[in-house]
Amino acid sequence: MNTDVLPVVPLDDRHLVERFDSGVDELDRWLRRMARIAGVVGTGATYVLALAQPVDPATLQAGERPEGTADGPLHEVVGYYTLAVRSIEQDLGPRLLARGVPESVSVIHLPRLAVHRDWQGVGLGAELLVEALRRAVQAGTAIGARAVVVDAVDEAALTFYQHMGFEELEGMRLFKSMGDLTAIL
Ligand SMILES: CC(C)(COP(=O)(O)OP(=O)(O)OC[C@H]1O[C@@H](n2cnc3c(N)ncnc32)[C@H](O)[C@@H]1OP(=O)(O)O)[C@@H](O)C(=O)NCCC(=O)NCCS
Repeated sequence: MNTDVLPVVPLDDRHLVERFDSGVDELDRWLRRMARIAGVVGTGATYVLALAQPVDPATLQAGERPEGTADGPLHEVVGYYTLAVRSIEQDLGPRLLARGVPESVSVIHLPRLAVHRDWQGVGLGAELLVEALRRAVQAGTAIGARAVVVDAVDEAALTFYQHMGFEELEGMRLFKSMGDLTAIL
């Protein structure tokens, strides 16, 4: 299997998203149908890991090429994450709403992260997460955010984030403080 990937970059029209299959339908559909729209309207920025080898144009199915793009090379997306800024109120829980902190705190939100199932288990998820956290720390430091908050889509995702050192906040939501992240990264 080809695991040569390009550096993580913002999703754009050079990326083929239609073949993305992480095994979690909700995450796959979001990348295919919503990610570009969220970027345009400013509700979330999506970054992708794509194969270095361009897609063979002869294998392209109808509708796979992003609308309105010319015939340039397309790179298949094998991993992605989305970042957004959120203001979280009481639902964040007491650990983040410590003394001296206003009623609501700004956090960097990582609502989605996924790897195509054919490429899972070879380190790409960890690579994507570290890259996402570096970007989150940079953005969070600039705006004074208090933590990175992630949402696990299911129990397997929850154990993945726990394995990666996140602490449970409530339900399927976990966090790591900006201070801890700055010290680690
Ligand atoms: C969860 C997911 C992103 C992991 O990606 P991956 O490329 O398979 O993970 P990696 O190969 O980089 O593994 C990194 C580490 O996490 C561990 N890990 C992977 N999946 C795990 C899981 N479900 N539970 C616990 N640990 C897990 C690996 O064993 C590895 O540990 P190590 O560094 O100590 O050896 C991927 O399986 C996926 O996309 N799943 C479907 C969508 C999903 O659950 N997204 C999560 C956020 S919503």
